[in-house]
Amino acid sequence: MSRLIVVSNRTPGKGPAAGGLAIALRKTLAEREGFWFGWSGRLVDQPDREARFEDIDGLSVAQIDLTRDDHHDYYAGFSNSILWPSFHLRLDLATIEAHWYEGYRRVNVQFARALLPLLKPDDVIWVHDYHLMPLASELRNLGARNRIGFYLHIPFPTSDALYAIPHHNDLMRDLSRYDLVGMQAKRDVAAFTEFADHQSPSSLSGNPLKSVDFSRTEVDSFPIGSDPDAFARLSVSPAATKMVKRMERVLREQKLILGVDRLDYSKGLPQRVEAYEKLLANNSRFRRQVHMLQVAPPSRDTIKEYQETSDALDAMCGRVMGRFAEPDWQPLTYVKRAYGQPSLAGLYRLAKVALVTPLRDGMNLVAHEYVGSQNPADPGVLVLSRFAGAAEIFDGAIEVNPFDTDETAEALRIALDMPLDERIDRWTRLMHAAREHNVDAWAARFLERLAPATTAGSGTRDILYLASVA
Ligand code: G6P
Repeated sequence: MSRLIVVSNRTPGKGPAAGGLAIALRKTLAEREGFWFGWSGRLVDQPDREARFEDIDGLSVAQIDLTRDDHHDYYAGFSNSILWPSFHLRLDLATIEAHWYEGYRRVNVQFARALLPLLKPDDVIWVHDYHLMPLASELRNLGARNRIGFYLHIPFPTSDALYAIPHHNDLMRDLSRYDLVGMQAKRDVAAFTEFADHQSPSSLSGNPLKSVDFSRTEVDSFPIGSDPDAFARLSVSPAATKMVKRMERVLREQKLILGVDRLDYSKGLPQRVEAYEKLLANNSRFRRQVHMLQVAPPSRDTIKEYQETSDALDAMCGRVMGRFAEPDWQPLTYVKRAYGQPSLAGLYRLAKVALVTPLRDGMNLVAHEYVGSQNPADPGVLVLSRFAGAAEIFDGAIEVNPFDTDETAEALRIALDMPLDERIDRWTRLMHAAREHNVDAWAARFLERLAPATTAGSGTRDILYLASVA
């Protein structure tokens, strides 16, 4: 079997919230030969050209350092102030500084130059996420003939949002140089197809742009999952049980409503707290009977829009506390820090309702983890945004429009009142879907399409690529 090279901005075990991505791929890579390649988390004045190999929990990881300026322009700048808000349809929160694009490309070139000497001809390369869209182009410009796949963990934008991104045509041309492009959901593939079918020039100046030829690139949806059975085991582990006991002492008879999200404007956190406020306002019988816990580890907090989201959430939580708290009852707890998987699994198991209500989300693995952690004899209810990729596979959830806080408040009421037989019926369907789409199935499906066992390795594609570059 050919080696697998996974490439992503963050490498496993490094940096603060490595996120679902690192967790998902660690397992796949542990099962076959190859290595993980990415940024070391270090900023230096003069990065080495060569990557350093390190063993991280049995995984071979090759890493490069970046300069502070390049990292700023590539990560906080182009990736997270332009691509992230645009792909999440929040153009109002995008900051467009044209020069960031150069830093974004420079880092992709740096990745390609450091990765190329490490490659064998039949290695299969799997590139992850929006930070690295140009990587296949840069590798192919240096002569790489390998099979290269790209997986987008975030939603694909509508054409209008895409057109607002500087150099969007270059980026789409970069995507056309992958053999396989994977997306989370069918709606993302539909948005991509819409763009591919109706491309228009990207700028007022310069030469008119030829449309991008996607005829050599396969595009399909591969919904990512978690490991629901591992969460089932974890949720009854001693560490999880310790958390459950701690919480039960405080909660007593109150039902727990849980949210777990990176502190990101795409997660719809102020709207979620407002929906909870409406639940308490419209249904006084729930006061003292419920408690909302929002876990929200800070994320990308050098970026102004993230600081503002954090401030907005502080204000919302303060408002709800001021309105409903009593000396001996607090309606909510808001925790701005990250917890390990065992503690989270305990919280998931204890929660009667999970509020997973992003305004837009690629998939949302919290939904998967919550389902996996439930007690089959007394499961909780998943309230899920219809704008999360997870909505395409989880028909057992109560689906809501997260912008409509009245609807979310009503969904909360229905969830809290739901009889046991309906909860079991819904959870059984959810668990079936979580198992069917678990992370192993996801990786196997993608890799089988990228490099079927019989055709792995280089072929005539490099000739086609040269033709399309010209
Ligand atoms: C999302 C992205 C990942 C990213 C994660 C954490 O899930 O799809 O690529 O790693 O957020 O964000 P961060 O900016 O801290 O890497």
